Amino acid sequence: MVAYKSKMVERIRLPSRAQRERNLERAGYNAFNLDSEEVFVDLLTDSGTGAMSDSQWAALIRGDEAYAGSRSFEELESAVRDVMGFSHVVPTHQGRGAENVLYGTLLSAGDVVINNTHFDTTRAHIANQDADPVDCPVDGAHDPEMDAPFKGNFSLEGARAVVDDVGAENVPMIISTITNNSTAGQPVSVENTRRVREFADEIDATFVIDACRFAENAYFVTEREDEFADATVAEVAREQLGYADALVMSGKKDGLVNAGGFVATDDETLFERCKQRTILYEGFPTYGGMAGRDVAAMAVGLREAVEEAYVADRVDQIQALAEMLEEVGVPVYTPPGGHAVYLDAGAMFPHLSPNEFPGQVLVCELYREGGVRGVELGSFAFPETDRPELVRLAVPRRTYHKEHFEHVVETAATVLEKRETVSGLEITSEPEVPELRHFTAELEPI
Ligand code: F0G
Repeated sequence: MVAYKSKMVERIRLPSRAQRERNLERAGYNAFNLDSEEVFVDLLTDSGTGAMSDSQWAALIRGDEAYAGSRSFEELESAVRDVMGFSHVVPTHQGRGAENVLYGTLLSAGDVVINNTHFDTTRAHIANQDADPVDCPVDGAHDPEMDAPFKGNFSLEGARAVVDDVGAENVPMIISTITNNSTAGQPVSVENTRRVREFADEIDATFVIDACRFAENAYFVTEREDEFADATVAEVAREQLGYADALVMSGKKDGLVNAGGFVATDDETLFERCKQRTILYEGFPTYGGMAGRDVAAMAVGLREAVEEAYVADRVDQIQALAEMLEEVGVPVYTPPGGHAVYLDAGAMFPHLSPNEFPGQVLVCELYREGGVRGVELGSFAFPETDRPELVRLAVPRRTYHKEHFEHVVETAATVLEKRETVSGLEITSEPEVPELRHFTAELEPI
């Protein structure tokens, strides 16, 4: 059920078709090169793109900008304690700042880190410590059609095989990413989290939860895990996060803010070590690279994220978009995730081979037909992997309404109708670092 009305609005415009064609060409058929004013419905990411509540704007004005010992930091500490159950928090400028602080503190060259699936920046920060990130998703995680409640789970069998291979002494850290962004935003069950905790104890590793979308994950648990059928989202969140030794958090997701992140832990020694690294890379540990006002808004956002009305409205919006797309015959990853609908471009354009980038073709056609911006997560973003050709339509929090989604569905239906006439793309220029090519590479129609 809808949980908001608008108090402030931002004008959007749909450029003419001729203009959209010109924009695409100028952008080198890469939607990252489009200006936001050229985009009508922007589903590039759910990160830092949401609308803050009136309570958050009020907190922003009251933010305390003291360099040390800010009152806004105390508000954050108290929110992290109440909502997530951890007593120590180190703020950072955003999630990847938290990754640098925690992973830089815990890892050394040659270590192996196991995750249900590493998000891009997580993988990059682990590699930056000369450590080796290994994914252990459950079977079916990359199958767009398999129906299962927790396709985001961490595979214990996979992790055991890695540990048998490299030796427990080389695996100092295990991560569970909830929800699992790199497998279509799928949730992780509390039962799976408990088993990861046991496994971490068994091999004497630190258990970290990447909690970016912890509230959305908790909502799925209340809907799908029998043990929690009568629990609140807030209760599940505390229970699930409580199994971890430390959290990395991007406030730009379930912190409901446009900037910010943090590390949280109960471990005094780890906290002290993280603080030292924060001073070096982020700022004094009571602001960590954030303005005091943003810290204050994040403290309020964390509390709002576990309100039932908010999170039900949020996740239901994504489920409804997926259903509307399925009704008009657009192939989507099922079941839909918590922050995004993932379109199956491989199924949509069976006549295009992976090296013609069907996902990127779909991104371009969605823009050409309706000014809608999504992001490719197939052969263009992840060369040389056997991932499905997915396009993510990530929904900013508390931002778009039914009419926007109706436009997205109409646009996708138009692309579907003309799918046989669509041709592939080839890369014309790309950066030196292949892992980051989809951000800046340029393409042209074949
Ligand atoms: N971990 C996960 C699971 C993420 O999804 C992200 C960001 C980060 C860490 C890094 O956080 O952006 O605040 O530095 N995901 C965004 C996305 C960028 O579009 O999915 P950050």
